[in-house]
Amino acid sequence: MSVVSPHEKLLVVDFGGQYTQLIARRTREQSVYSEIAAWDDPCLAEKWASAKAVILSGGPKSVLADGAPTIDPGLLRSGKPVLGICYGQQLMAHLLGGIVVKVISREYGRQLLEPTPDSALLPAPGQVWMSHGDSVRELPDGFAASASTFTCEVAAMQDLSRKLFGVQFHPEVSHTENGTLILRRFLFDQAGFAADWTPANFVEESVEAIRKQVGDGRVLCAVSGGVDSTVAAALIAKAIGDRLTCVFVDHGLMRKDEAARVVATFEDFVPARFVGIDAADQFLDALAGVTDPEEKRKIIGGEFVRVFEKHAGEIGDCSFLAQGTLYPDVIESGSKTASKIKTHHNVGGLPEWMKMELVEPLRWLFKDEVRATGRELNLPSIAIDRQPFPGPGLAVRILGEVTRERVAAVQEADAIFREELERDDLYGGIWQSYAALLDVRSVGVMGDERTYLHPIVLRAVVSEDAMTAHAAAIPFSTLERTATRIVNEVDMVNRVMYDLTSKPPATIEWE
Ligand code: XMP
Repeated sequence: MSVVSPHEKLLVVDFGGQYTQLIARRTREQSVYSEIAAWDDPCLAEKWASAKAVILSGGPKSVLADGAPTIDPGLLRSGKPVLGICYGQQLMAHLLGGIVVKVISREYGRQLLEPTPDSALLPAPGQVWMSHGDSVRELPDGFAASASTFTCEVAAMQDLSRKLFGVQFHPEVSHTENGTLILRRFLFDQAGFAADWTPANFVEESVEAIRKQVGDGRVLCAVSGGVDSTVAAALIAKAIGDRLTCVFVDHGLMRKDEAARVVATFEDFVPARFVGIDAADQFLDALAGVTDPEEKRKIIGGEFVRVFEKHAGEIGDCSFLAQGTLYPDVIESGSKTASKIKTHHNVGGLPEWMKMELVEPLRWLFKDEVRATGRELNLPSIAIDRQPFPGPGLAVRILGEVTRERVAAVQEADAIFREELERDDLYGGIWQSYAALLDVRSVGVMGDERTYLHPIVLRAVVSEDAMTAHAAAIPFSTLERTATRIVNEVDMVNRVMYDLTSKPPATIEWE
């Protein structure tokens, strides 16, 4: 199902650059719909033809290397406006007859950019973010240099008559001054986009697309209370009303009081049939004695299916299954290089009988766009601004065996951490924050007694998309207060740590 055909499209050709998704997001922030295609996508020519303009991404390779990623040079002569960023600029120069050379000292980090007076994209001198080992030495016919830095003569180039542009730096990263303005000048002044990618348009078009796909059929949507499944359900409910059945399975691994809240409030903001199932005992019994993280995920995935089988009568016959797949998942699953780090149990693994036709209304959206769609649908902040939460819940935040006692300890510690972050007005700026319980013990002293108990690790990260993340800079006083409360209030715990690792090399969750 595509909801995006009516939109003018910007194509981002991916050469393996670390900022490719960011380019797509930055253009969508300007209300321009963008899609990413790999440089070796067999349908690249078609995608190029259906786009209004193209951005060529950065990439880790040198255009001079054997087997370097490339495209058919004919595409650059198709008359569409093209902006090459970093590797994209070098490739454009290389393919159109310019000369690219290795630079003696690689350029990384901030540089002062000096545009020429006739530069069409670059407004004024400013700091830009550079990271490259090759440089354009000779421009292709028709091009002029439009900016330089102290060490890079062709920091930007342009051929105004063919609307071909290159920049050696990264306008999409926030460290580049005027980066947004540079992208806007390309998108609006040069390519003439209409800025028609808005949440209101998206809601209207996806409601229409869902109605068309589903006809008079029924849709089953498993909801977790999280933002993706709630927004997907709200969109489908808007399209087909109570022919949507939302099923919430409480696996006993939610945060403190959260399952009860979802059951009590879900129907208030999603007008569909709601079936709440308390299966906590079933999941916790199945997890008894299991310590391996992937095994836990497998068991939880299997129990979900069993719950659906057991409650099939209550749920009713549905020929469609809704999934909250997001655009980054779509990009990832198309990528040849992405290796499996963790099995996310909500992807794949369904038995034959559950393989209904999929309805995926969010498959074109980034996370921030899902939230914007939720706001457009008037969903309350409690549903939209909730932190992402893993499908297997607290099972991946309890290292070692998952027992009822350990679940209760993690729930309590997690609730204390949240309260203390909120007290200092920090919670809203954090991507994810939680407490994990470790499967080791250490000696402590409480009152006059020796203790031999478990540590809690506090994890709080800032991130834009969960692909990369950094530890949040939480004031020591907040951490210390949280630690004191956890040790005093949570029975199994006598020590608290704060996890400072970024992703990569760590992941956001501990398992
Ligand atoms: P990691 O730990 O891989 O997590 O850095 C990235 C994001 O995915 C979430 N996550 C999961 N979500 N099932 C899910 O639905 C899972 O098994 C799972 N494991 C991690 C994690 O919370 C973070 O937002």
